[in-house]
Amino acid sequence: MSEFKIRTLCPEDWAIYKLIRLASLADSPDSFGSTYEREALFPESEWRSRLGPSERAKHALPLVAEYDGIPVGLSWGLIHKSGSNVAHIYQMWVSPEARGKGIAKSFLDCITAWAKVKGCESVALSVTTANDAAVGLYLSTGFVPSGEVEELRRGSVLRTQPMVKVLRNAA
Ligand SMILES: CC(C)(COP(=O)(O)OP(=O)(O)OC[C@H]1O[C@@H](n2cnc3c(N)ncnc32)[C@H](O)[C@@H]1OP(=O)(O)O)[C@@H](O)C(=O)NCCC(=O)NCCS
Repeated sequence: MSEFKIRTLCPEDWAIYKLIRLASLADSPDSFGSTYEREALFPESEWRSRLGPSERAKHALPLVAEYDGIPVGLSWGLIHKSGSNVAHIYQMWVSPEARGKGIAKSFLDCITAWAKVKGCESVALSVTTANDAAVGLYLSTGFVPSGEVEELRRGSVLRTQPMVKVLRNAA
């Protein structure tokens, strides 16, 4: 197998994004606040608009990992408001057969580098507390727990832990 490549998804990639996002929700329902059932009903316009062009997309870094053009991983960096100094990470997923090869770590490196260029002082995310692989990933890359645990989604017994990585000290 060749080396994986990470690239930014552009608006024309909406069908690739839909494919891998739905695959992630089907594979790892306990890892995400949203569900396969909810997003499978999204119209084409929703998938297109997430990748822009839009005001929101200007502050987003949607990444896909591919082996020979086959998508095997997804992750987003997102700065919620222009000028905010926190970049958020969402939708992190690597397909089971591609795990353990450093793809998630590479996604984090890309998003962290992008966040620094954007002037952010920290990167934030939430992780399901029972998700040992993801908790291990974030702890090993410098994230620390921050804030109270919350429900994964309304009525769920699963809990999520906010985590943050400080990129540099505030002035
Ligand atoms: C969590 C996940 C994204 C990790 O992806 P990955 O590409 O396999 O991770 P990497 O190969 O980049 O691993 C980087 C580090 O994460 C940690 N890690 C990864 N998998 C781990 C596991 N199963 N158990 C403990 N630590 C793990 C290790 O510290 C690893 O470094 P090492 O290989 O030097 O030990 C992947 O397992 C996944 O997609 N899980 C389902 C979806 C999910 O949980 N997403 C996270 C939502 S917050």
